[in-house]
Amino acid sequence: MFFPKTRTLVCIGALLLPSLVGAQYQMVKEYMGQNFFDDWDFYDNFDNLTNGDVNYLSAKDASSQQLAFINDAGRAVMKVDNSSTLKFPNKRNSVRIASKSKYTIGSLWIADMTHVPFGCSVWPAWWSSAPTWPDGGEIDTFEGVNQVTMNQMGIHSSPGCIHSNTSVQSSTLINSTDCSIFANQNEGCIITNPTTKSYGAEFANAGGGVWVTEFAVKGISIWFFTRASMPDALQGNASTIDTAALGIPVANWPADGCSPPDFFEPQSLIFDITLCGDYAGNSNSFFQTCSGVCYQDWVLGSPSNYDNAFFEVNYVRVYGEPGELTVIGSSDALHSYTAETSLRMISVIAGLVTLLYMFL
Ligand SMILES: *[C@@H]1O[C@H](CO)[C@@H](O)[C@H](O)[C@H]1NC(C)=O
Ligand SMILES: *[C@@H]1O[C@H](CO)[C@@H](O)[C@H](O)[C@H]1NC(C)=O
Ligand SMILES: *[C@@H]1O[C@H](CO)[C@@H](O)[C@H](O)[C@H]1NC(C)=O
Ligand SMILES: *[C@@H]1O[C@H](CO)[C@@H](O)[C@H](O)[C@H]1NC(C)=O
Ligand SMILES: *[C@@H]1O[C@H](CO)[C@@H](O)[C@H](O)[C@H]1NC(C)=O
Repeated sequence: MFFPKTRTLVCIGALLLPSLVGAQYQMVKEYMGQNFFDDWDFYDNFDNLTNGDVNYLSAKDASSQQLAFINDAGRAVMKVDNSSTLKFPNKRNSVRIASKSKYTIGSLWIADMTHVPFGCSVWPAWWSSAPTWPDGGEIDTFEGVNQVTMNQMGIHSSPGCIHSNTSVQSSTLINSTDCSIFANQNEGCIITNPTTKSYGAEFANAGGGVWVTEFAVKGISIWFFTRASMPDALQGNASTIDTAALGIPVANWPADGCSPPDFFEPQSLIFDITLCGDYAGNSNSFFQTCSGVCYQDWVLGSPSNYDNAFFEVNYVRVYGEPGELTVIGSSDALHSYTAETSLRMISVIAGLVTLLYMFL
């Protein structure tokens, strides 16, 4: 599915000239269109992870209640219930999905979105985590609470991982540099994206944008592009990505302070939207941009408080380093491996044919 034969032939030229090829990644998985929701687990329990005031629905209920669906534009929508009026002590319905596949160090994922959730009490995230959290680490590509105007990015880990060096990132807004879950009440190593087009209404008004997350031996990096600033490398159906074509990342946690192989394990990709809870609901965060009482006034208040509490996603694509088994934990691994193996076989044969041709 991810390496159609016609593409393979086009790639042969590049594979014959390895010295000219940069740090490339090849697509190993695409979540898009009518099949977007196929390969995710829906949490199907109340939020017992961050004490938020939501019930995360099963796939069946999220679909029948229209909280997870593909809209007329072909985009995946994940949202908070904005039609029910609730009574104490009920929680509001929402969605949390985690990819069935896990992705190893040596992978990169891209999410193209046109809308992200925002508003008082709302706490959305597009992130990843290892099942053995905190030992396997966590990477937060997109997160924010209440009415903040800029996206925050972060990594969380077991003790010993720090944000040591900011020489390879464009953001100068460094909030915290000890990534240990035991430091600063598990604040993590937070970097804020300086553009207000990275969150809330301004993100949507700008037509949305794209996040690229690189999970590499040399470190973890995040790029963000608004619709208008999208580089050519991300246009169309880019089956390969060369990070050299993306410029300087907005956030970078280099290996010198936090070597990914020491702190990170294969990551499951996650979208969720919770309400109040440990972060949006704690009084420090809540009163920075909102007023009232998080649960009583917002969750139990007008359902229209949640008209903007939705993700609208064009696609999620995952890429891996050529030759590496980057997809694990589902049958996708087999596809990736088989495609990679046949790609290599073809390139070896093509190389031999070229050599023969040169000598005859
Ligand atoms: C949350 O609930 C699920 C389902 O009941 C359970 O399997 C899981 O262990 C719970 N997690 C925590 C952190 O309580
Ligand atoms: C920070 O990273 C850059 C690029 O990798 C490197 O050249 C520089 O020596 C590092 N600085 C420190 C203080 O480690
Ligand atoms: C991080 O720092 C930025 C810039 O100083 C600030 O606007 C933002 O509120 C901080 N974020 C957190 C989570 O403290
Ligand atoms: C991208 O792929 C989708 C689905 O495979 C297809 O419908 C679309 O035409 C492709 N677009 C481009 C620019 O190749
Ligand atoms: C819920 O929010 C969606 C998206 O903003 C909006 O189209 C819809 O009208 C809202 N539903 C209700 C019942 O107001």
